[in-house]
Amino acid sequence: MVDLLLGLQWGDEGKGKIVDVLTKNYDIIARFQGGPNAGHTLIFDGNKHVLHTIPSGIFHKTAINIVGNGVVIDPVIFEKELDNLSAYNIDFKSKLLISRKAHLILPTHRLLDAASEISKGKAKIGSTLKGIGPTYMDKTGRNGMRVGDLELSNWKEKYQALTKKHLKMIAFFDVDIQYDIVELETAFFKAVDRLRQLSFIDSEEYLNQAIKNNKNILAEGAQGSLLDIDFGTYPFVTSSNTTAAGACTGLGIAPNKIDEVFGIFKAYTTRVGSGPFPTELFDEDGATMAKVGHEFGATTGRPRRCGWLDLVALKYAVQVNGVTQLNMMKGDVLSGFDTLKVCTSYMYKGNEINHFPYNIDPENVSVKYTEFKGWEEDLTQMESAEQLPENLITYINFIEKELEIPIKIVSVGPDRKQTIFR
Ligand code: GDP
Ligand code: IMO
Ligand code: MG
Repeated sequence: MVDLLLGLQWGDEGKGKIVDVLTKNYDIIARFQGGPNAGHTLIFDGNKHVLHTIPSGIFHKTAINIVGNGVVIDPVIFEKELDNLSAYNIDFKSKLLISRKAHLILPTHRLLDAASEISKGKAKIGSTLKGIGPTYMDKTGRNGMRVGDLELSNWKEKYQALTKKHLKMIAFFDVDIQYDIVELETAFFKAVDRLRQLSFIDSEEYLNQAIKNNKNILAEGAQGSLLDIDFGTYPFVTSSNTTAAGACTGLGIAPNKIDEVFGIFKAYTTRVGSGPFPTELFDEDGATMAKVGHEFGATTGRPRRCGWLDLVALKYAVQVNGVTQLNMMKGDVLSGFDTLKVCTSYMYKGNEINHFPYNIDPENVSVKYTEFKGWEEDLTQMESAEQLPENLITYINFIEKELEIPIKIVSVGPDRKQTIFR
């Protein structure tokens, strides 16, 4: 069977940490969408690792890690990720398998991303500038290059044709971006050679055989549900389906093969990049969350915007994904607040509503909060659910009741060990 783990907010919920914690229960960990816009942080044995494309099961000796067809791969970033893992003596050839159907991010996709953002001015998405949007555009526009193309004798011709077209498109944007295409290509071709040393597979076949052989598979989401191309805060979203259905198309797995759906959320909310954020804080409370939670993007280093937990948005994400169990992250960051607020409804064009509407821009939406008493205790050394402070239990019980789903994991720090099962 296949279990899914997905972010329920605007990304950076702590997916990497929990996938790493859960990997011991699985034979295969598979990424199904997104690309190096993701930054998944793992901390164990005093070391910190940030993974962008490589699944978060890579540090476990026996797990097979698959980069699925729904993922977009930048060979240059991928090469760096492999280099960063060199101390671990991982047998990548057998432990890290790449779908032939995954699309490639070319150097000119990154340039197009930058040109598009500059041309948008104030309306920019706040993209990570990794070329994600342009690569998915070429995929749906049926122009893309796939990993499997690298096995064809004419792949360089395909590459040249697409690059030539991209350069014309960049000129069309008429914005000032500096680049040295020769330098970019040299790095790209070198990285492609490295990528070729890995095993390219027909991953949908591999995964369905694994299911037949009773292997346990965990699909690892990237980004979060509110960044989903269909259900997120469009146009301030990423270019893939980050929600549960994306795991079916991004891996070639049928919906009836999916068992548990782990929905992961922070005990508060963060967002990096542009777009509406109803519970965003501009006061000292928001600054405290950012400081205590070290809220800086794992991929870009940009500061993350912070705010209270939004149960209207969470309920929406739970529904779209069919979440069966919840994981609450970073509760430790909330220690020391006198009062905690949770958004339980929106005022939308003058009416109180409980569902996530089409548009959540500030001119349409304001938030209504339910307040909770905070707790003083430091959670980071706690090891069992019995040790958690009473006010935190009240907070957890309220969320469970509102979302009608149990919170099975409470994370109390970034380390693998700082994980409490309920
Ligand atoms: P991902 O993209 O969902 O994998 O999340 P990121 O790695 O981008 O961001 C999560 C950040 O929070 C990382 O810096 C983690 O090390 C950290 N983190 C994860 N869980 C916890 C937790 O329970 N408490 C604290 N304080 N930090 C956490
Ligand atoms: P993980 O997997 C948080 C955001 C960007 C921007 C928007 C579009 O680490 O949770 P893109 O580069 O996809 O064109 O950017 O989406 N974004 C993320 N925010 N976590 C991520 O990934 C993100 N990936 C993209 O900041 O607002
Ligand atoms: Mg991240």
